[in-house]
Order: sequence, then C-alpha cells, then structure tokens
Amino acid sequence: MMLKNISILAAVLASVWAFNAQAMPISKMGKDLTAEERAFLKQMLPNQPEPKDDEFVHIPPTMDDLEASKLHPKLKEAIRRGHDLFVNTQQLKGKNVFNNMNCSSCHLGEGRRPFAGPVWAAAVTLPDFRGKNDHVNSLEERIVGCFSYSMNGIPPAYGSDDMLALAAYHQWLAKGVPMYPDAKIYGRGYPSPKNPELKPDFERGKVAYMKNCAACHGEDGAGLVIDDKVQFPALWGDKSFNWGAGAARVNTMAGFIKHNMPLGHAPAVTDQEAWDIAQFVDGQERPQDPRFTGDVKETRAKYEKTFHKGTLYGTELNGQLLGEKSSLGGKPILKPEILQPRDFSGKAK
Ligand code: HEC
Ligand code: HEC
Repeated sequence: MMLKNISILAAVLASVWAFNAQAMPISKMGKDLTAEERAFLKQMLPNQPEPKDDEFVHIPPTMDDLEASKLHPKLKEAIRRGHDLFVNTQQLKGKNVFNNMNCSSCHLGEGRRPFAGPVWAAAVTLPDFRGKNDHVNSLEERIVGCFSYSMNGIPPAYGSDDMLALAAYHQWLAKGVPMYPDAKIYGRGYPSPKNPELKPDFERGKVAYMKNCAACHGEDGAGLVIDDKVQFPALWGDKSFNWGAGAARVNTMAGFIKHNMPLGHAPAVTDQEAWDIAQFVDGQERPQDPRFTGDVKETRAKYEKTFHKGTLYGTELNGQLLGEKSSLGGKPILKPEILQPRDFSGKAK
C-alpha cells in the first residue's frame, strides 16, 4: 500500500509541477482569444468546456512573472509570502488551521486553475453581498470564510501581516482584470455537472470511490501524511473540512470531482459517478459546523435556505443523524469570534 502510494505520488507531483510551470497570462473576452491562446487552453484543460464568446477568460500571471515585474521589491516580498501561505498553509497549523489542508488542496494550480475555484475572481467581484452570511463581504472576509470552514480554522486577524499577504497574492493573480466585470467568468468556482439521471446514491458512490479515489485518499478518507507533510488531504473525518464548508455541498463536491479528480487525470468519472461519489464523501462525518446552535436539526433549519439545502448535515443517512457525532476536529473553540454580522444602514448602535 505504502509503496504504491509513493509511486502514485511521484506521478502526481510531476503532473502538478508541469501545470505550475506553464505560463501564458490571458485576460480577455472569449470572442477575442487568438488561435494560439485557444490551443494553450485546450492543452492545459483537456476535455473541459471551452470558453464561450461572452465569457471573460483570465489565466493569471505566475510567480516567475512576479519576479520579472516592475513592482516594488517590498510588495514582491508580501505577494511571495501570500503565495507561500496559500500553498503551504500547514505552516499555520495549530494556530489558524486545524485540518490537514492547504488552500491549494482545493484551489488547484496555486489558485490559478479554471474549474478548480480560481481565487482571483474574488478580488475583482468583492466587496459584494453574500447570501451565506447575509451581508456585504470584503476580500479579506472571503478568505476568513475559507479559514473558518474549509480549513476548520481560526482565521488570522483582519489587517494582520498574514491576511494582507494573502489578499495581496489574490489581487496579484487578478492583474489585468477589470474591476466588477459584467461578463460571466470562465471556469469560476467548481461548476456542477448536469443534473444526474438517477438520484445520487451512497452505495454506488462507495463502489466508484474505492475504484477511483481510495488509492490516494485512503479507504477511510483520511488521506496520507508523511513526516508532517500532507501528500493527500482528508476527504472526511476529523482532519477534513467542516460541515459549514462549501465542499460539504453535494453539488459543489460533484463539480470539484468531475473537473479535477483523480488529480492529473480528470475528467475521468461520468457525471453520474461524480454525483454518486459526492454523495458518498459528503455523507460522512466531519468536524462540526462552527454555527452549531447545540442542536443539529435546528442548525440545519436555521441555515437551510442559505446553505444547508445543499448538504446532508442534519439528515438521516444509514440510520445515523449526520452532524450529531461531529467533534471540533482538534480546534480549541467552536466558532471563531471574527465571524460577525455587518450593518451598513447607518442605524447600528
Ligand atoms: C476544502 C476545500 C477548500 C479549501 C481547503 C479552501 N477553499 Fe476556498 N473555496 C472552496 C469552495 C468550495 C469555494 C466556493 C466556490 C464556489 O463559489 O462554488 C471557495 C471559494 C473561495 C474564494 C472565492 C472565489 C470566488 O470565485 O469568488 C476564495 C477567495 C477562497 N476560496 C480562498 C481560499 C483560501 C485563501 C483558502 C486557504 C486559507 C481556501 N480558500 C481554502 C473550497 C476550499
Ligand atoms: C493520484 C492521487 C489522487 C487520486 C486518485 C485522487 N485524488 Fe483527490 N487529491 C489528490 C491530491 C494530491 C489533492 C490535493 C491537491 C494539491 O494539494 O495540489 C487532492 C484533493 C482532493 C480534494 C480537495 C481536498 C479535500 O481533501 O477535500 C477532494 C475533494 C478530492 N481530492 C477528491 C477526490 C475524489 C473523489 C477522487 C476520486 C474520484 C480523488 N480525489 C482521486 C490526489 C488524488
């Protein structure tokens, strides 16, 4: 098992490296792409949907481009630090991060890759209203969200060095994109596959998971850590993202899987398999939703409309009420204080 994992790992690292080494910054409407740019996108994203004429296509600059740029050396240093925190977020383990993930575990290609949650999109569309927390959010607040839920963590403070560095990295990736673009952004988020013909099914998902995913992520979904370095992140259990994370929504997970997994070989599973595997992965226990009120069903009801309608939290699966046995996953507190409402009515006391 171990040896097999290590040889798979070598192949994965080679393909991830090959992706990161590619460089062709693009920032334009789909209709304006040159033949060369279209060929580059096809090779970078084999068998993924091609840009439509009315979509905005952005392939961010690389860290090499940063070094070659005319930005102030001190700004380069801050962006470099943000990049380092993004791809090796584990350096904040026990302080800001309590699972075994990096930001780049889900935002592939250092947060640059279409269909893998490219993070620069937030830098050009925020501040904006977010249904999930029912108020206008800044870029830093969006980062706070992924720390609190996806990393099962306690976010760095607003305005702290680490927060500024991360925000600077996001903004650098967005270089050349107009602020508040009117067009739809090509490859934003993790677009869900077409609605499944059959209702997503835990048992079918389990079979497909064992075949396509278990070699890397483990039959128990716990992933693989060697010498404190995360090789394969956890998909469920105490070391994974918590119940409040976007990836806990079956449609988001299905989209992530369809476009990105198995790493380096996607798309490899059918749409139906992506939905079934998502049902299986998101139908397992994971750390508690930080918004937990003390009662799972009540928490589900409170956030049903804005979030939990997409998750299996607070529902019964295989005779178990999901979320009821959730732990804090090693985090010393349930809810980070930084998660606060905002009020722009001018009437707040
Ligand atoms: C477990 C997977 C996971 C991890 C780990 C993760 N994120 Fe995310 N992130 C998501 C999902 C899911 C979304 C929502 C995508 C969507 O809207 O469909 C998201 C969205 C975002 C966005 C908004 C993108 C947009 O299109 O507006 C930003 C910015 C972001 N994450 C930053 C981070 C940072 C910084 C970290 C590390 C501190 C991180 N994320 C860790 C899953 C993750
Ligand atoms: C060849 C090894 C490999 C295979 C096979 C594989 N993955 Fe992954 N997966 C990875 C790696 C490595 C990452 C983290 C990416 C990074 O850090 O660059 C990852 C990340 C993920 C993530 C986001 C982080 C997290 O832990 O939630 C999910 C979800 C995921 N994989 C699901 C799957 C599913 C489902 C399958 C099967 C369809 C699968 N993977 C197959 C290697 C693999």
